[in-house]
Amino acid sequence: MKIIMLGAPGAGKGTQAKKIADKYSIPHISTGDIFRANIKEGTELGKKAKTYMDQGLLVPDELVVDLVVDRVQQDDCSNGYVLDGFPRTIPQAESLDAALEKLGDKIDYAINVEVPDENIVRRMSGRRACLACGATYHLVHIPPKKEGICDNCGKELVLRDDDKPETVTKRLNVYHEQTQPLIDYYTTKNVLAEVDGTKDMEEVFQDIVKVLGV
Ligand code: AP5
Ligand code: MG
Repeated sequence: MKIIMLGAPGAGKGTQAKKIADKYSIPHISTGDIFRANIKEGTELGKKAKTYMDQGLLVPDELVVDLVVDRVQQDDCSNGYVLDGFPRTIPQAESLDAALEKLGDKIDYAINVEVPDENIVRRMSGRRACLACGATYHLVHIPPKKEGICDNCGKELVLRDDDKPETVTKRLNVYHEQTQPLIDYYTTKNVLAEVDGTKDMEEVFQDIVKVLGV
């Protein structure tokens, strides 16, 4: 099962992608998490990506496409995967489709998690992230057991640099301009499914399971 998660920043793509990955035993591939891990490790890719991410801008397509195309061909992806945060532009989607076509493959579902802009800023200011293992919490909706500490790995939780309100607004604008056109793109390919991301996260997940039909 090859799945793409679509949705605005903070719509809950990562939250739902992790649940899908657990239930169906497929890898969760988040380009944002990959970049944040590279930033933390101080790699060349991380240094380049950070200059864009901190401004709420997209990292250039050429820094992300090959990375994902390589990743989806690794052994653990043979039964499928859930892509979170990729593709984010029409050229990225076209490159992915072209690469999959060469492999005789295609995307099965693009799930759009729909959340209006007004809910987003509120959600992001409450989000706390573990940069060590990628786990995500929310001060109100999913608090960690011990304040400021990751339940999974015991490391410190942080407010992401790009979750400050002014950067969130910028990311929303970038989303509407560059990523939202993918909804039409995947509708045309007959793989788009929409779920209401304002519901409780368990209900959102049940709606996604219905779409996946297994
Ligand atoms: P990325 O890390 O992908 O960020 P994003 O798309 O902006 O999305 P987020 O991770 O902020 O939100 P999410 O939808 O995963 O929501 P979450 O589940 O955490 O990318 C970061 C940056 O990297 C980009 O800005 C760009 O610069 C760069 N980048 C990455 N990929 C790229 C690409 N392909 N091309 C170019 N550049 C790229 O949920 C949010 C919060 O809400 C959490 O606190 C959560 O607990 C809470 N929540 C979730 N669901 C619910 C619910 N149903 N009810 C209440 N609260 C909820
Ligand atoms: Mg995310």
